[in-house]
Amino acid sequence: MGPGGATLTRTHGVRFVTVTMPRVQGDTRWDAHGGLTNNPNEHARTVGQPIAALITDGGEQGALSPLAPPCAALDSRPMPAIWALSDLHLSTSGAKPMDVFGDHWGNHAGRMAESWDRLVADDDIVLTPGDFSWASKPAEAAGDFAWLGARPGHKIMVKGNHDYWWTGTHKRMAELLPPRTYALKKTAVSIHGVGFFGVRGGDFAALTRYGDTRTAEDIEAWLAREEHELKLSIAALDQADAAAGRARGQRICLFHYPPIPPGRTVSRFTPIIEAAGASFCIYGHLHGQELGPAKVEGTWNGVTYRCTSCDQVDFTPTLICRI
Ligand SMILES: [Fe+2]
Ligand SMILES: [Fe+2]
Repeated sequence: MGPGGATLTRTHGVRFVTVTMPRVQGDTRWDAHGGLTNNPNEHARTVGQPIAALITDGGEQGALSPLAPPCAALDSRPMPAIWALSDLHLSTSGAKPMDVFGDHWGNHAGRMAESWDRLVADDDIVLTPGDFSWASKPAEAAGDFAWLGARPGHKIMVKGNHDYWWTGTHKRMAELLPPRTYALKKTAVSIHGVGFFGVRGGDFAALTRYGDTRTAEDIEAWLAREEHELKLSIAALDQADAAAGRARGQRICLFHYPPIPPGRTVSRFTPIIEAAGASFCIYGHLHGQELGPAKVEGTWNGVTYRCTSCDQVDFTPTLICRI
C-alpha cells in the first residue's frame, strides 16, 4: 500500500470518498495482535488526518456542499478512556511511609504520579475507589488532594475503611476536593454520558484471625446499611438521568471492599449491580501478593469485576475501557 490519503470523485452525479491507510511505523496493520491500547488510536489518527484534509479542501472548493459539515466522528482525537487505580494510601506529609509494607511500595506516590501523568489524558476519567489518604482529618489531607489535583483527568472515589478524613458535609467536602473530583456517598455522577455509582461495602465475615470480634449480627447490620446506600446511589443516578431526559447509558459501579465473598461469584450486592445496568464493578481494599480466592475477578451476568488496588496493578492506572 502506498501513502495514505483520501480522495473525492464524482461519477454520474454520485460522490465517492476513498480512504487509503498509510503505513504506520513502516507497517500496514489494522490487524493488530498487540499494543491494543495504542494501536487503534494510532491507526484512527492516521486515517483521520487525510479525511480531515479532504473535508477542509473539499469544503473550500465547494465540492462537498451540501454534505453535512465535519462531524465529531471524524475528529482524530482518541476517545476518552476510563482508568482505575485504587487505594492510593497517600501520605504526602511523610507521616505514614508505605515502604514499611515492603520494598515494592518504595516511592509509590512518585511512581503513581509518573505513570498517571504519562497515560491519562486530561479528558479521561480515573476511578479511585477508597483508601485515598492516611490523613485522619480533612485539613491533614490537603497535601494529598493537591497531589490528586495535579494529576490529569476527572476523578471519582468512594470511601475506604482508612479514609478517616472523609467529611460528612457537602460543604466541607466541596472545599476539600480539587476540580473535577467526585466523592460518591449516596450520590452518583455522569461524565461523558457514562454513569458512575458506588458504595464502600464491607467484610462478609468477621476477620477473626486478626482479632475481629464483630458478631454475625454486627456484620449483617453493616452490610444492610451498605446495601441501602448502594441503592440510594443508583436512585440518584436514575433521577439524574431522568432530570436530564437521557436514556440509561453505560454505567460503572465502584466498591471499596470486594463486592463478592472469597471464592464466590454472587453476593447480596451482585443482583443490585446487575439490575442497575453496570458493565464493570471496580474495587480495591485488598493488598498483598497472596490474596488467593479473596481476589474475585471475572465477568458474570454482564458485569466485569476487577480489583485495582495500586499494588495489584503495579502502581499504574489500569485501563477499564474507552468510551
Ligand atoms: Fe481498605
Ligand atoms: Fe487499602
